[in-house]
Amino acid sequence: MKYLLNAQAGDLAQLVGLTHKHFIFILQPGGEFQSHRGVLKHDELIGKPWGSQVFSHTGAPFYLLQPSMSDVLNELPRNTQILYPKDIGYILIQMGISEGQTVLEAGTGSGSMTIAMATAVGPQGRVISYEKTPDTQNLARKNLERVGLASRVTFKLRDIQEGFDETEADAFFLDVQNPFDYIEHVRAALKPGGFFGSLMPTYNQVEKVLYALKKNNFAFVEVCELMLRYYKTNPARLRPTDRMVAHTGFLVFGRRIEFTDDDPRGAALSKEIVGIEEERE
Ligand SMILES: C[S@@+](CC[C@H](N)C(=O)[O-])C[C@H]1O[C@@H](n2cnc3c(N)ncnc32)[C@H](O)[C@@H]1O
Repeated sequence: MKYLLNAQAGDLAQLVGLTHKHFIFILQPGGEFQSHRGVLKHDELIGKPWGSQVFSHTGAPFYLLQPSMSDVLNELPRNTQILYPKDIGYILIQMGISEGQTVLEAGTGSGSMTIAMATAVGPQGRVISYEKTPDTQNLARKNLERVGLASRVTFKLRDIQEGFDETEADAFFLDVQNPFDYIEHVRAALKPGGFFGSLMPTYNQVEKVLYALKKNNFAFVEVCELMLRYYKTNPARLRPTDRMVAHTGFLVFGRRIEFTDDDPRGAALSKEIVGIEEERE
């Protein structure tokens, strides 16, 4: 998303009205924004400085802003659980996802992680995203189209029990209920040294994933959980907000390595970072 001074045709725009209600859409000459708070013609918005106040035909006020990725993801139409900015930001950095890479994910869900990965890999990169439910895949595709990123994504409709078509991916993000059942397939899809990441809500899933990662020679494994606490922004009464989201999921990361214990010079290192023999079985 580029940040210019004035709104241009083709830009993703956001109108923020009273009670912080957000509306996100692409600015199109001749287009109209309609809501229960009235109508605004896109032609009246195109050319306005970002951050301006604008008014619907009924006089309802809005701020015109360029949405951040966080705005886009928080407002995403969804029919599944989605990944949120709190976790996504760290996942992208931890897995080294960047310009020009080929990255895989399953399942697509509503496309929240897909949008973040498609942004990170840029126009030269590729996201290949597997999903087994047609309606969910259709919603994700619409969500990607709405923000102008669908051309960077290959959507595949498939139960991942059947494995993946790709090999040598830079990174693989797995967000399904039973990730531990697919680690062998994920390994086959990754390049040597490639990054694995997954989010899961329960300890029980984490434990099974850890065993599956050892069995399939993933190393540099990490498990973590991110906590985010918001504060009220009145400087005279600075304090945490009354409520918080206490849990989204546990994050598990690892890297595909080539395990060798036949060369005595490297065996100790392999065993140390993947785990001892009994644990691997
Ligand atoms: C929690 S959602 C993924 C959310 C997504 N990461 C996002 O940020 O919007 C899990 C998705 O995985 C899909 N799924 C579960 N098991 C699958 C399988 N075996 N093959 C393909 N997709 C699967 C489900 O249909 C669901 O849409």
